[in-house]
Amino acid sequence: METLKHAIEDARSRYVAANPKSQAADESAERYLPGGNTRSILHYEPFPLTMVGGNGAELTDLDGHRYVDFVGEYSAALFGHSNDVIKSAIHEALDNGVAMGAPTRYERELAGLLCERFPSIAQVRFCNSGTEANLMALSTARVVTGRNKLLAFNDAYHGGVIKFLGGRCSLNMPFDFVLADYNDIDGTAELIDEMGDELAGVIVEPILGAGGNIQGDRKFLQMLRQKTQEAGALLIFDEVKTARLGPSGTQGMLGIYPDMTTLGKFIGGGLPTGAFGGSAEVMAQFNPKKNGALAHAGTFNNNVCSMAAGCAAIREIYTPQRATEFFDWSEAFRHSLNGMFAEKAVPMYANGMGSMIAIHFSREPTKRPSDISAGCQSLRPLLHMELLLDGVLLCRRGDLFLSLPMDESHLSKARASFEKFADRYKPLIVEVLAA
Ligand SMILES: Cc1ncc(COP(=O)(O)O)c(C=O)c1O
Repeated sequence: METLKHAIEDARSRYVAANPKSQAADESAERYLPGGNTRSILHYEPFPLTMVGGNGAELTDLDGHRYVDFVGEYSAALFGHSNDVIKSAIHEALDNGVAMGAPTRYERELAGLLCERFPSIAQVRFCNSGTEANLMALSTARVVTGRNKLLAFNDAYHGGVIKFLGGRCSLNMPFDFVLADYNDIDGTAELIDEMGDELAGVIVEPILGAGGNIQGDRKFLQMLRQKTQEAGALLIFDEVKTARLGPSGTQGMLGIYPDMTTLGKFIGGGLPTGAFGGSAEVMAQFNPKKNGALAHAGTFNNNVCSMAAGCAAIREIYTPQRATEFFDWSEAFRHSLNGMFAEKAVPMYANGMGSMIAIHFSREPTKRPSDISAGCQSLRPLLHMELLLDGVLLCRRGDLFLSLPMDESHLSKARASFEKFADRYKPLIVEVLAA
């Protein structure tokens, strides 16, 4: 039987043969960028594809191959690569002057659109990324409560300096974090009780994204809501990715409302931005018309291109109705993948919710990060390589993000690729998982 090592080597050699221009571009980039890279997640072995163009839900690489794009810029490319409404909003903003160093109409309109959509956000502030939004929310929790300790979860990702994937990251900000296990109701409740009046806030992704698109258990999130209230600490929902699920993110879907919410990714229509918001009482701390207000800075917080693109995207494209339809359509696709895997009796499962999916090598939904086996992790590079070779882009760790310009033909193409993969490698997958 084919071993996993050989299967990966074989797939990589076919990939090298098919992508000489991407390989050469990667090698020459090493001169000025460490490893030819400026965003670690975009690196994979033997070298990443260099992309040269995007149209709708498709991308073209330097060697001329076309792909259905399920990387979807890790969820930020909800609108695809060439939406006319967004393009004309950016052009209009450009024509009227960029970097004006003053408030503009765009951030005011986008603030209104977001506050009307997310019931827990009475007021909002913009920044430049999801990472920055989370740093601001965590710092706000510390200032508002006058406390230092923060609770986060193992295998959570809140940005490049706030990540707990496989442990604490050495680049993390030196906040006083205590870590609990995601979806562990009793253990987490106990920790919150122990921290009591030292706890400033709890930050949680309602779906653990980079940790495997694991759905937060409703009871677990309800417990966090109740316990943080009892402790006088702030509950922060990191909805940087999950805000795209339905009209008002997972909070709207579950009816569980945090004290603060952080946003990013798609809210700038595909351009860089981030936002943090919450109750009027918490956000009043930032009111510069009041004495002693917290000064929140950022040269590009209200950059007109992102703000204008975000306004057009949310006002005209991702209406509440479109968000609901898209969620249902995406969820049906996820279920159809699971139906196909079950029919073939191959141990694969599309975890997640709606347009946020992660493929796990398992027969069951993954409910906790500790359920992810070493075998599952070791099979991912093979899945990644084989799907790239078949014209389907997915993240190297097995995530797929659906986007609005996708149609049934894109989904059928992806389903067929997964089917081909399952047919070819089922014996190997079973063997690796049993080892
Ligand atoms: C849940 C979550 N929070 C925060 C971030 C950080 O956002 P950004 O990359 O815009 O800094 C990410 C990015 O992937 C994310 O997935």
